[in-house]
Amino acid sequence: MRIKILGSAAGGGFPQWNCACANCAGLREGTIRAQARTQTQIAFSPLPDVWFLVGTSPDLRAQVLGTPELSPHPGTPAFSPITGVFLLSADVDSVMGLLHLREFQNFFVFATPAVQRLLKNENRIFKVLDRASPPVQWQLLSSRGRIGCHLSENAGDPPTFFYTSVPLGGSYPDFASDEFRSSASVEEAIVGLVIEQDAKKIFIAPCLAGANSQWERVAASSDLTFIDGTFWSDEELMQTGRSKKTAREIGHLPLSGPDGLLEQYPKAAKGRKILIHMNNTNPVLDEDSPEHRVVLDAGFEIAYDGGEFDL
Ligand code: MLT
Ligand code: MN
Ligand code: ZN
Repeated sequence: MRIKILGSAAGGGFPQWNCACANCAGLREGTIRAQARTQTQIAFSPLPDVWFLVGTSPDLRAQVLGTPELSPHPGTPAFSPITGVFLLSADVDSVMGLLHLREFQNFFVFATPAVQRLLKNENRIFKVLDRASPPVQWQLLSSRGRIGCHLSENAGDPPTFFYTSVPLGGSYPDFASDEFRSSASVEEAIVGLVIEQDAKKIFIAPCLAGANSQWERVAASSDLTFIDGTFWSDEELMQTGRSKKTAREIGHLPLSGPDGLLEQYPKAAKGRKILIHMNNTNPVLDEDSPEHRVVLDAGFEIAYDGGEFDL
């Protein structure tokens, strides 16, 4: 399994177009040591020339063009090596890139039933995906047992990889109607993705509200975990003047503090743990900050655009 990080920042990217916080201004002026980042996008390849996307970021077009492995090969009937996309929520940052994939390409879209309903019934714009022939194929993403994904041409072969999801709590995006909210289960709003191949397990949870502890068991047993590094502190958006809401109020467990991710992360976890989806205000982005040092000392890595992993 190969995994590539095509984008590693939260919504807005880093720097963010309308932000002049210490990080964004420092990056623009070259006065801090930090790397620009596009909006979070992960891709994994379970077989040569077959790629799946996790989320479809608003920056997807540039991210695909910047990744030679995702280019179509001249003369092959399949248009693109992008075979499917896993949507872990209906957040704008996670689904906006679907519209970049509208060019008559058939692919699989894995999402919970509620996320599928939200995209298909409340947002007619996504019907553009149906003009591919055959249209995109919506697939169930469920937390009830693992499902095998068969990519081999021989029907008797074992599944190429297995996938399942973990409900992470959190809420539906602001654009969901009250009617939708009253009928949709909170279990299906935001999920983490578990991919297994050759006895190796990958856990992807870029949006972790901390509303339940189901993620801890999965993080503890994964070989590679990509997890929510959006905010350093609960008050970060208020302190930087960006919003009156706390990190928790917008669905992100902060890294620091007594109940923060660094404290809660299972101590027995042996796999690599990589923070992803960092907001532009997060001091860990400044490579000379004490917060950057704290997360590295706690054994975490900080995702950057272009990062690659082989399992
Ligand atoms: C989020 O997931 O809440 C957003 O990425 C935060 C943001 O837009 O900055
Ligand atoms: Mn986001
Ligand atoms: Zn900023």
